[in-house]
Amino acid sequence: MEHIVNMKSLTTEEMMKIIELAREMKADGIRKLDRTYYVSNLFFEPSTRTKSSFEMAERRLGMEVIPFAPESSSTLKGETLYDTVKTFEAIGLDLVVVRHPRDKYYEQLVDHMDIPLINGGDGSGQHPTQSLLDIFTIYEHFGKFEGLNVTIAGDISHSRVAKSNAESLKRLGANVTFVCPDEWAGEFDYTTDLDAQIENCDVLMLLRVQHERHDGEGLAFSKWEYHRQFGLTLERAERLQAHAIIMHPAPVNRGVEIADELIESPKSKILTQVENGVYVRAAIIKLLLKGRNE
Ligand code: CP
Repeated sequence: MEHIVNMKSLTTEEMMKIIELAREMKADGIRKLDRTYYVSNLFFEPSTRTKSSFEMAERRLGMEVIPFAPESSSTLKGETLYDTVKTFEAIGLDLVVVRHPRDKYYEQLVDHMDIPLINGGDGSGQHPTQSLLDIFTIYEHFGKFEGLNVTIAGDISHSRVAKSNAESLKRLGANVTFVCPDEWAGEFDYTTDLDAQIENCDVLMLLRVQHERHDGEGLAFSKWEYHRQFGLTLERAERLQAHAIIMHPAPVNRGVEIADELIESPKSKILTQVENGVYVRAAIIKLLLKGRNE
């Protein structure tokens, strides 16, 4: 593993290696690395959990975190992402994490970088560390992927989480079904009938309605109408299997993708996903730095 930019770039063995190391770290604690390493988290799009869980993982590994805020950087003077990343490399960083609104921004970088790049999300493209923490959470609960029925419901075409999880979960042997409005289907086969899936799924993964990516699309769902057709209502939750779990990458639009009362309900893994993100990101960083030193 040289970089982590999308789920296609990881083999199944590498995914399982990350899960195993994250599991060890969760059980035994995150130990400091063999020396001080320097990292920066270059987030050009808003983030609460990805950025702060990377920073938590980095600090628990004993790394020095160099601050970066695009609004007070030379980005405002027109510096390109490429030049920003090469500048951080020249300053002496050992690793960078990047989130950027442009799909596949990493394609112009990886062939020119001597340090590992972790993609913290590219536009509507990929969110590989979210997928890895999602599959870790599923594996922690079920101990397997083979044969699990995973229903992913929501704003599929704008979701990097949907695309990353489609790749990883199908490759690991899960049966993935997409549920969404016709307008948000994107590249996948899908159904609009959530009710037909609800009693059959082992994992119900809800996706955030990404209002910020809908400019000009003229979609006309009221919150109530979306919730009624595509959301996890209290009534639908009653019909889930006893062992089924509810997931959402968050942030959540409360009362839209999921009823308020269900967010912290016993079946919900939403905060466990956030907790697991720290261990998964620590495991990824450790493996990338180890690979670079070998
Ligand atoms: N799930 C996720 O990527 O959340 P943030 O946008 O808060 O990082």
